[in-house]
Amino acid sequence: MSQAIWNRKDLIDIESVSVEELETLFAQAEVFKASFGTRKKFDTLRNHTVGTFFFEPSTRTRSAFEVAARNLGADLLTLSESTSSRTKGETLRDTARNIRAMGVDMVIMRHSAAGAAAYLANVLDIPVINAGDGAHAHPTQALLDAFTLREHFGRDLRGKKVTILGDILFSRVARSNIHCLTKLGVEVTLAGPITLVPQEFGNYPGVRVAHDLKSALSEADAVMLLRIQHERQTTTHFPSLGEYTALFGINEERLAWMKPDAIIMHPGPINRGVEVESEIADGPRSVILKQVTNGVAVRMAGMHLCTLYRESLGEK
Ligand code: CP
Repeated sequence: MSQAIWNRKDLIDIESVSVEELETLFAQAEVFKASFGTRKKFDTLRNHTVGTFFFEPSTRTRSAFEVAARNLGADLLTLSESTSSRTKGETLRDTARNIRAMGVDMVIMRHSAAGAAAYLANVLDIPVINAGDGAHAHPTQALLDAFTLREHFGRDLRGKKVTILGDILFSRVARSNIHCLTKLGVEVTLAGPITLVPQEFGNYPGVRVAHDLKSALSEADAVMLLRIQHERQTTTHFPSLGEYTALFGINEERLAWMKPDAIIMHPGPINRGVEVESEIADGPRSVILKQVTNGVAVRMAGMHLCTLYRESLGEK
């Protein structure tokens, strides 16, 4: 591994993370992943407590962070919106400062408001890792996606082509992936309903917006499918889910447009039969469950690096 570079106590987005830091994180995640199945535990977070604040639903991200924290030796403190005093009007700042006063050493937070994680990182002297803030960023999802692509295609992703298909407009996964993949030299194509693919994203270096689904699929080395995020949509962006499936859903006919060795990715949760047919989601071209496994390794790496950085500053 080249010299390890990691200069941040928090992981809030991908924009601010350098390519060198990305490489450091991937190298660390490779070390952690190599331990899977050996029952080996690490002690970066021994005698540390990690607080997980999930103010939006989650299966994969929350569970992966909890498994990752335990693998690093941490104790866990979990908080959710409906069972916390946030329902009685307590501010996010007060909630976080109270938890910090109990001795929590790191916060992992998912929140519906874009910017919530950055705000908390300024309030707290401990690492804050963004587990998704509104439609803004989902950095660890992008990192696990890139890690999965590196595992499949090799560490140098320059020149690879990834098509992101679906609801780009409301997707923090798409935004973080656009930043992460283009930093790694991947050519990104965005496709989906015209109302859900912001045309201006095509002005970003390394990104194009495709209007022809066949070309978007046939050129790709990997196709990343996104679900329609009804929870963030305030108006209707296309007539019905049936029409989305008819126009953009991945079925056997559209799978055949793809290169024979191109892979199918999805951050989950999948809406089976909508953005992808079940047989394809579970088929040999799908790396969806590998993404989930890699989510544990990547989150271990993020927690490990943020903790070491903070402790290198001499802070307890
Ligand atoms: N990919 C993802 O963020 O899934 P969850 O919403 O289940 O955490």
